[in-house]
Amino acid sequence: MAKQRVLSGLRPTGEVHLGNLLGALNNWVQLQDKHDCLFMVADLHALSSEYADPKPIRHNIRENVIDWLAAGLDVEKCTIFVQSRVPEHAELHLLLSMITPLGWLERNPTYKEQKEELKGKDLSTYGFLGYPILQTADIVLYKATLIPVGEDQLPHLELAREIVRRFNHLYGPVFLEPQPILTHIPKLLGTDNRKMSKSYQNYIALTDSPDTIRKKVLQMITDPARVKRGDPGHPEICNVYSYHKCFSEGKISKLTEDCRTAKIGCTDCKEMLAQVLINYLKGIQEHRSRIKDDPEKVDEILEEGSKRAKAIASATLKEAMAAMGMSNEL
Ligand code: TRP
Ligand code: SF4
Repeated sequence: MAKQRVLSGLRPTGEVHLGNLLGALNNWVQLQDKHDCLFMVADLHALSSEYADPKPIRHNIRENVIDWLAAGLDVEKCTIFVQSRVPEHAELHLLLSMITPLGWLERNPTYKEQKEELKGKDLSTYGFLGYPILQTADIVLYKATLIPVGEDQLPHLELAREIVRRFNHLYGPVFLEPQPILTHIPKLLGTDNRKMSKSYQNYIALTDSPDTIRKKVLQMITDPARVKRGDPGHPEICNVYSYHKCFSEGKISKLTEDCRTAKIGCTDCKEMLAQVLINYLKGIQEHRSRIKDDPEKVDEILEEGSKRAKAIASATLKEAMAAMGMSNEL
């Protein structure tokens, strides 16, 4: 049986952080061995929130891709490309926008949440409302059927499936309905206990130095009931503990016990976490600096990947145009 195609993307709106690593990248690295994978830098999607100051996007694209490679993506096994270098995304977005009822977009819970989260930005734009249509185009251009995403993206996947059904019903079977692949890793909160987000600046970046990591971890909020060193802790409500659960697996039962019995203080517990994170990121950071030694390599990777992506995307777009009776080649 032919391998199933996987497509996923991240928006280059800032630095790659631990949430991206646990929620997406580590999973991508696993998937590249099993499937035909395409991983996309969603720079057009980034524009939907960053349109007022788009300059950093170019820089972020490069730096983010270096992080992806440092985390273990291997272009011998997968394709990495930049969304805007494949104009078919914008073209198919337009075609799909013709058949997508406004109500489907307005009902989207992720849209409402994001508007709330990015309060400082004016997101009452047509592009932002149409975000899931662009995401649908991303997916169906490659006839990708497996889409690794976080839970917040499930409404977008459902919309993609609805748009596919509507297109196929109107014009004939061109597109495939995508399925989400969810990771079972619980979502990491930011260091301030809010949702981890680039707009809140409450994350640990893959490139953070040991000092920065230590500083960020020491500022984290713990169990508020532990006022004195001798007070027993409640690890289940402590954010530091949830990080330990992700990164200190082998030591977690002892740590739980030591927290509950006040054998360990919160500062020691945080020091431990900082050290674990520093060690965890050390390998990635070393890999990163080796990649940085050969800057042209990253350009080549993106050039090559975008060319590969474009070959697939343009064939699908032609098919879609033909199905709609819009082809100039007939
Ligand atoms: N919307 C996704 C996010 O914010 C990023 C994305 C863009 C994406 N296009 C995609 C994810 C296509 C999966 C498939 O995380
Ligand atoms: Fe949290 Fe650790 Fe303090 Fe327990 S000891 S409350 S797990 S920081």
